[in-house]
Amino acid sequence: MQPLRNFLSFLCLGALSWRAVAGTTYFQSSDYSGGALGLGPYQTYKSSSSTPSAWNFVVPYNDSTSDQIESGLIFVAPRGTNVNSPGALIYDKTGELVWDGTHFGQTLTFKMATYKGDPVILLWTGSVAGSGVGSGYDLILNNKYEIIANFTAVNLNGSLADFHDIEMTSNNTALITAYQAKTWDLSAFNITDGWLLDSVAQEVDPSNGSAIFTWTASDHVDPSSCFASPGTTGTSADNPWDFFHINSIDKDSAGNYLISSRHCHAVYYVASSGDIIWTMGGHNSTLTASDGTTFAWQHDVRWHNDETQISLFDNEGTAWELDSSNSRGLLLDFNASNNSFSTNKQWIPYNVTVSESQGNVGILDSGNTLVGWGQIPYFSEYDANGQFLYVVQFGVGDVQSYRAYHYNWTATPDTRPSVFVETDGSNTTVYTSWNGATEVDTWQLSGSTADSPQLAIPISNTSRSGFETAVSVTDSTKNFTYFQVAALNSDRKIIAYSNFTASDGSQQDPAANQTVDSSSSSGSNSTGSSSSSGSIQVVVDSRMITAVFVAVWTLAFVV
Ligand SMILES: *[C@@H]1O[C@H](CO)[C@@H](O)[C@H](O)[C@H]1NC(C)=O
Ligand SMILES: *[C@@H]1O[C@H](CO)[C@@H](O)[C@H](O)[C@H]1NC(C)=O
Ligand SMILES: *[C@@H]1O[C@H](CO)[C@@H](O)[C@H](O)[C@H]1NC(C)=O
Ligand SMILES: *[C@@H]1O[C@H](CO)[C@@H](O)[C@H](O)[C@H]1NC(C)=O
Ligand SMILES: *[C@@H]1O[C@H](CO)[C@@H](O)[C@H](O)[C@H]1NC(C)=O
Ligand SMILES: *[C@@H]1O[C@H](CO)[C@@H](O)[C@H](O)[C@H]1NC(C)=O
Ligand SMILES: *[C@@H]1O[C@H](CO)[C@@H](O)[C@H](O)[C@H]1NC(C)=O
Ligand SMILES: *[C@@H]1O[C@H](CO)[C@@H](O)[C@H](O)[C@H]1NC(C)=O
Ligand SMILES: *[C@@H]1O[C@H](CO)[C@@H](O)[C@H](O)[C@H]1NC(C)=O
Ligand SMILES: *[C@@H]1O[C@H](CO)[C@@H](O)[C@H](O)[C@H]1NC(C)=O
Ligand SMILES: *[C@@H]1O[C@H](CO)[C@@H](O)[C@H](O)[C@H]1NC(C)=O
Ligand SMILES: *[C@@H]1O[C@H](CO)[C@@H](O)[C@H](O)[C@H]1NC(C)=O
Repeated sequence: MQPLRNFLSFLCLGALSWRAVAGTTYFQSSDYSGGALGLGPYQTYKSSSSTPSAWNFVVPYNDSTSDQIESGLIFVAPRGTNVNSPGALIYDKTGELVWDGTHFGQTLTFKMATYKGDPVILLWTGSVAGSGVGSGYDLILNNKYEIIANFTAVNLNGSLADFHDIEMTSNNTALITAYQAKTWDLSAFNITDGWLLDSVAQEVDPSNGSAIFTWTASDHVDPSSCFASPGTTGTSADNPWDFFHINSIDKDSAGNYLISSRHCHAVYYVASSGDIIWTMGGHNSTLTASDGTTFAWQHDVRWHNDETQISLFDNEGTAWELDSSNSRGLLLDFNASNNSFSTNKQWIPYNVTVSESQGNVGILDSGNTLVGWGQIPYFSEYDANGQFLYVVQFGVGDVQSYRAYHYNWTATPDTRPSVFVETDGSNTTVYTSWNGATEVDTWQLSGSTADSPQLAIPISNTSRSGFETAVSVTDSTKNFTYFQVAALNSDRKIIAYSNFTASDGSQQDPAANQTVDSSSSSGSNSTGSSSSSGSIQVVVDSRMITAVFVAVWTLAFVV
């Protein structure tokens, strides 16, 4: 991995000073994990107000394991009381920010998909109720981060899209979740005037907002057949009993739906008629289970390998109950010929503990797997043999991410790069960043004078080094009033111009002849990752050298 190689050569060269201007990543830092840096350590920049969570590699990757790590970027959405700015974030694999989407607010489902042939982002927006469900809108963003669809649940007496899932089908329809409070006879629980929080799975066409399929849990599952009793809930419309708790929907080639119920500890395979074809897990399983397959309070249930395997995040606990010593990622083999299932493999966390909520399992094409640990602020990538490739901690206190993903994502935003000019005595430094851009290789710095503010006079070229790049202005050119950067891609083509910006913050638009062809800069079919060729900015921690050179790995793979 490039940054680590750079870091190793940096150690060898003994170059002990560098500008710690860009993001900060930690390696096995006890200051980080012990809370000395705060409960939600975050990075800051000069050219951007973004404050993404800083990472601590509790298991770092090295030159040998990095070759097994797929190219691509990490999608997480930190939330919780110790998160400075909750919301969607894309990072490169070194922990450098790529895109800050926190202007959309706190989110839960935040993932990549293919919509009408193009790579897109799916992002839930809205408000989260104390009961652990959401009400809002699902967005589709293109690779310029423009909103190309904004849709929600329909025909549910005003209930809007919940945050638990958005899954795009091959027919360009979206599978979404919704919750609906309704009156229900709960006299069996000694509750008069009872209220149920029903779960709904809906298939919606984002292009026109219409519903193609609507499945309501209480029509098919007896509320008293699950694991969460009403307790103190069920008494009013504001305090309804969430008996089912839908949290994922998948659809297969046969047109049937795979619906996860956390509170029933069950996965329902549902026909387009709404009828349940089979039930996996819970009190009413209709399949034959092998040992070790029991799951509880699970999330993120997905088909794999032509519907012969199912992955899920087995929480093994909830706020009021622990069923095991740890959560796990779980891959089940499903045998349709005799309606049985068995364990293929499981992924055990580095921090062997129960994540009481959230979590996901992302099996990559190579066989590597990225597991997001939900309520506890970790994600880990495993090789195909179940060995850790790396483990990242992204917070210490109440820092959570509903899911974590590893994707190839390329984007060229429909905005201008940001520039901040800092003058310190006789020195001038130009800081630049471009939120969400993945195709920048080099920043070309130009200057101009107050007489001709839009006349760009080239100064220097600097390799992009993470989210923010700092460029020192040499003595002979610091008599410029304004500075501008042009973003060059790896083909040395200019894909964006910034404003001309002065040290007092005043700005001038790019010149009229500084135009770029946005269609060719979008990189829609390039494979990719952030094309950073710069070095990772690190804070030296006394344990970091150990982190890099000592073999640190834990075999946590159990068949
Ligand atoms: C999505 O649509 C809803 C309803 O029109 C609107 O309130 C909301 O602001 C939209 N979201 C965004 C990010 O534009
Ligand atoms: C309902 O109340 C009756 C009488 O107090 C009691 O015997 C019964 O156990 C209660 N049932 C439940 C489900 O709490
Ligand atoms: C589960 O089984 C119980 C007992 O057999 C039954 O009362 C209940 O209705 C069943 N629930 C479902 C969802 O089939
Ligand atoms: C796509 O639409 C076709 C035709 O309506 C249907 O047969 C198929 O099941 C659908 N597939 C999915 C994944 O929705
Ligand atoms: C493991 O996670 C729990 C819950 O977040 C936390 O309290 C504990 O400190 C973590 N342990 C380590 C070694 O990080
Ligand atoms: C990204 O694309 C490369 C090249 O096609 C591929 O090897 C890699 O597996 C992909 N990464 C992910 C996370 O899908
Ligand atoms: C560029 O300048 C325009 C005003 O001309 C301003 O609206 C815009 O926000 C500036 N863009 C950036 C990225 O600073
Ligand atoms: C200007 O930069 C030089 C070289 O990096 C440094 O030695 C000097 O201290 C800086 N001056 C100020 C005023 O920061
Ligand atoms: C800036 O100063 C240098 C050295 O004095 C001079 O050669 C150069 O022409 C000046 N540039 C501008 C744009 O005035
Ligand atoms: C824009 O016009 C100026 C003045 O004629 C010229 O110096 C500059 O090279 C032009 N820039 C581009 C990108 O064509
Ligand atoms: C897509 O890839 C093809 C083949 O590599 C290339 O010819 C074409 O220019 C690419 N298109 C874009 C928009 O990058
Ligand atoms: C790299 O990390 C792996 C797994 O953590 C370990 O097995 C291996 O020994 C390490 N290699 C080096 C050169 O440190």
